[in-house]
Amino acid sequence: MSQLAGGSRSRVPVGAPHDPNRVGHDWLATLGEVTLFEGLSRRHLRRIAKLAHVRRFVSGSAIVRVGDAGTSFFVLLDGTARVVPTSGRVRRLGAGDSFGEMALLDGAPRSADVVADGEVLTLTIGRSSFGKLLRQEPVLAQELLRTLAARLRAAERSRAD
Ligand code: CMP
Repeated sequence: MSQLAGGSRSRVPVGAPHDPNRVGHDWLATLGEVTLFEGLSRRHLRRIAKLAHVRRFVSGSAIVRVGDAGTSFFVLLDGTARVVPTSGRVRRLGAGDSFGEMALLDGAPRSADVVADGEVLTLTIGRSSFGKLLRQEPVLAQELLRTLAARLRAAERSRAD
Protein backbone atom coordinates (compact mmCIF):
# COMPACT_ATOMS: atom_id res chain seq x y z
CA MET A 1 0.00 0.00 0.00
CA SER A 2 3.05 2.26 0.02
CA GLN A 3 1.93 4.04 -3.15
CA LEU A 4 -1.02 5.31 -1.19
CA ALA A 5 0.98 7.30 1.29
CA GLY A 6 0.79 11.01 0.59
CA GLY A 7 -0.10 12.98 -2.51
CA SER A 8 -3.69 11.81 -2.58
CA ARG A 9 -5.03 15.06 -3.97
CA SER A 10 -3.54 14.31 -7.38
CA ARG A 11 -5.26 10.94 -7.52
CA VAL A 12 -8.70 12.10 -6.57
CA PRO A 13 -10.24 12.51 -10.03
CA VAL A 14 -11.36 8.94 -9.78
CA GLY A 15 -14.38 8.33 -11.84
CA ALA A 16 -16.78 9.16 -14.54
CA PRO A 17 -17.32 12.89 -15.11
CA HIS A 18 -20.96 12.74 -14.00
CA ASP A 19 -20.03 11.41 -10.56
CA PRO A 20 -16.63 12.51 -9.23
CA ASN A 21 -16.91 10.12 -6.29
CA ARG A 22 -17.32 6.98 -8.36
CA VAL A 23 -14.38 4.61 -8.18
CA GLY A 24 -12.71 4.66 -11.57
CA HIS A 25 -10.17 2.36 -13.16
CA ASP A 26 -7.29 4.31 -11.56
CA TRP A 27 -8.20 2.66 -8.29
CA LEU A 28 -8.29 -0.97 -9.42
CA ALA A 29 -4.59 -1.57 -8.77
CA THR A 30 -4.97 0.08 -5.37
CA LEU A 31 -7.94 -2.09 -4.43
CA GLY A 32 -5.87 -5.18 -5.30
CA GLU A 33 -3.40 -4.17 -2.59
CA VAL A 34 -6.00 -3.98 0.16
CA THR A 35 -5.51 -7.00 2.44
CA LEU A 36 -9.22 -7.67 2.59
CA PHE A 37 -9.42 -7.90 -1.19
CA GLU A 38 -6.31 -10.06 -1.68
CA GLY A 39 -7.19 -13.16 -3.66
CA LEU A 40 -9.99 -11.47 -5.58
CA SER A 41 -9.77 -11.39 -9.36
CA ARG A 42 -9.76 -8.18 -11.39
CA ARG A 43 -13.34 -8.92 -12.35
CA HIS A 44 -14.31 -9.02 -8.66
CA LEU A 45 -12.36 -5.85 -7.94
CA ARG A 46 -14.21 -4.13 -10.76
CA ARG A 47 -17.48 -5.20 -9.18
CA ILE A 48 -16.40 -3.75 -5.83
CA ALA A 49 -15.34 -0.53 -7.54
CA LYS A 50 -18.81 -0.26 -9.09
CA LEU A 51 -20.47 -0.59 -5.70
CA ALA A 52 -18.17 1.82 -3.88
CA HIS A 53 -17.60 5.54 -3.57
CA VAL A 54 -14.53 7.51 -2.63
CA ARG A 55 -14.97 9.95 0.25
CA ARG A 56 -12.59 12.53 1.67
CA PHE A 57 -12.53 13.50 5.36
CA VAL A 58 -10.77 16.52 6.79
CA SER A 59 -8.37 16.20 9.68
CA GLY A 60 -10.08 15.60 13.02
CA SER A 61 -13.44 14.63 11.57
CA ALA A 62 -15.30 11.61 12.92
CA ILE A 63 -15.67 9.19 10.04
CA VAL A 64 -17.71 6.93 12.31
CA ARG A 65 -19.30 7.91 15.64
CA VAL A 66 -19.81 5.56 18.55
CA GLY A 67 -23.51 4.83 19.09
CA ASP A 68 -24.59 5.69 15.54
CA ALA A 69 -26.33 3.17 13.34
CA GLY A 70 -24.01 1.58 10.80
CA THR A 71 -24.72 2.57 7.22
CA SER A 72 -21.37 1.95 5.50
CA PHE A 73 -18.20 -0.05 5.50
CA PHE A 74 -14.89 1.75 4.88
CA VAL A 75 -11.48 0.93 3.46
CA LEU A 76 -8.81 3.49 4.24
CA LEU A 77 -7.23 4.37 0.89
CA ASP A 78 -4.97 7.15 2.04
CA GLY A 79 -4.01 8.78 5.33
CA THR A 80 -4.31 7.47 8.87
CA ALA A 81 -7.14 7.30 11.38
CA ARG A 82 -7.58 6.24 14.98
CA VAL A 83 -10.19 3.93 16.50
CA VAL A 84 -11.32 5.38 19.84
CA PRO A 85 -13.46 2.91 21.79
CA THR A 86 -15.49 3.95 24.85
CA SER A 87 -13.03 1.96 26.95
CA GLY A 88 -9.72 0.36 26.11
CA ARG A 89 -6.86 1.58 24.09
CA VAL A 90 -6.82 3.68 20.95
CA ARG A 91 -5.74 1.86 17.78
CA ARG A 92 -4.18 3.33 14.69
CA LEU A 93 -5.33 2.47 11.19
CA GLY A 94 -3.37 3.06 8.00
CA ALA A 95 -3.86 2.74 4.27
CA GLY A 96 -5.27 -0.66 3.38
CA ASP A 97 -7.01 -1.17 6.73
CA SER A 98 -10.78 -1.41 6.86
CA PHE A 99 -13.35 -0.53 9.51
CA GLY A 100 -17.05 -0.16 10.15
CA GLU A 101 -17.89 -3.80 9.53
CA MET A 102 -19.14 -4.59 13.06
CA ALA A 103 -22.33 -2.53 13.08
CA LEU A 104 -23.17 -3.83 9.62
CA LEU A 105 -22.64 -7.45 10.64
CA ASP A 106 -24.65 -7.49 13.86
CA GLY A 107 -26.94 -4.47 13.49
CA ALA A 108 -25.79 -3.01 16.85
CA PRO A 109 -24.64 0.64 17.08
CA ARG A 110 -21.09 1.66 16.16
CA SER A 111 -18.66 0.35 18.79
CA ALA A 112 -16.11 3.18 18.57
CA ASP A 113 -15.33 6.57 17.07
CA VAL A 114 -13.04 6.44 14.06
CA VAL A 115 -11.33 9.81 13.70
CA ALA A 116 -9.27 11.11 10.76
CA ASP A 117 -5.67 12.00 11.65
CA GLY A 118 -4.95 14.42 8.87
CA GLU A 119 -6.79 14.25 5.59
CA VAL A 120 -8.21 10.82 4.88
CA LEU A 121 -9.54 9.19 1.76
CA THR A 122 -11.82 6.18 2.07
CA LEU A 123 -13.51 3.70 -0.16
CA THR A 124 -17.06 3.52 1.14
CA ILE A 125 -19.50 0.68 0.56
CA GLY A 126 -23.13 0.98 1.68
CA ARG A 127 -24.81 -1.53 3.96
CA SER A 128 -26.78 -3.49 1.37
CA SER A 129 -23.89 -3.65 -1.13
CA PHE A 130 -21.61 -4.81 1.68
CA GLY A 131 -24.06 -7.60 2.57
CA LYS A 132 -24.36 -8.62 -1.06
CA LEU A 133 -20.57 -8.68 -1.46
CA LEU A 134 -20.09 -10.91 1.59
CA ARG A 135 -22.73 -13.34 0.37
CA GLN A 136 -21.21 -13.52 -3.09
CA GLU A 137 -17.49 -13.47 -2.25
CA PRO A 138 -16.52 -16.15 0.28
CA VAL A 139 -12.86 -15.06 0.07
CA LEU A 140 -13.84 -11.62 1.33
CA ALA A 141 -16.03 -13.02 4.11
CA GLN A 142 -13.18 -15.32 5.18
CA GLU A 143 -10.68 -12.46 5.31
CA LEU A 144 -13.11 -10.38 7.37
CA LEU A 145 -13.54 -13.27 9.81
CA ARG A 146 -9.75 -13.58 10.07
CA THR A 147 -9.54 -9.88 10.95
CA LEU A 148 -12.25 -10.24 13.60
CA ALA A 149 -10.53 -13.31 15.09
CA ALA A 150 -7.22 -11.41 15.29
CA ARG A 151 -9.02 -8.50 16.99
CA LEU A 152 -10.62 -10.84 19.52
CA ARG A 153 -7.24 -12.39 20.34
CA ALA A 154 -5.70 -8.93 20.78
CA ALA A 155 -8.57 -7.93 23.11
CA GLU A 156 -8.10 -11.14 25.16
CA ARG A 157 -4.36 -10.45 25.40
CA SER A 158 -4.85 -6.87 26.57
CA ARG A 159 -7.39 -8.06 29.18
CA ALA A 160 -4.80 -10.53 30.51
CA ASP A 161 -2.10 -7.80 30.83
P1 CMP B 1 -18.18 -0.47 13.95
O1 CMP B 1 -18.55 -0.89 15.32
O2 CMP B 1 -19.19 -0.62 12.88
O3 CMP B 1 -17.67 1.04 13.99
C1 CMP B 1 -16.47 1.31 14.70
C2 CMP B 1 -15.38 0.46 14.10
O4 CMP B 1 -14.12 0.53 14.72
C3 CMP B 1 -15.75 -1.03 14.26
O5 CMP B 1 -16.89 -1.31 13.49
C4 CMP B 1 -14.46 -1.66 13.84
O6 CMP B 1 -14.31 -1.67 12.45
C5 CMP B 1 -13.46 -0.70 14.47
N1 CMP B 1 -12.98 -1.23 15.76
C6 CMP B 1 -13.66 -1.33 16.92
N2 CMP B 1 -12.88 -1.88 17.87
C7 CMP B 1 -11.69 -2.13 17.30
C8 CMP B 1 -10.46 -2.69 17.75
N3 CMP B 1 -10.31 -3.11 19.00
N4 CMP B 1 -9.44 -2.81 16.88
C9 CMP B 1 -9.57 -2.38 15.60
N5 CMP B 1 -10.70 -1.83 15.12
C10 CMP B 1 -11.74 -1.72 15.94
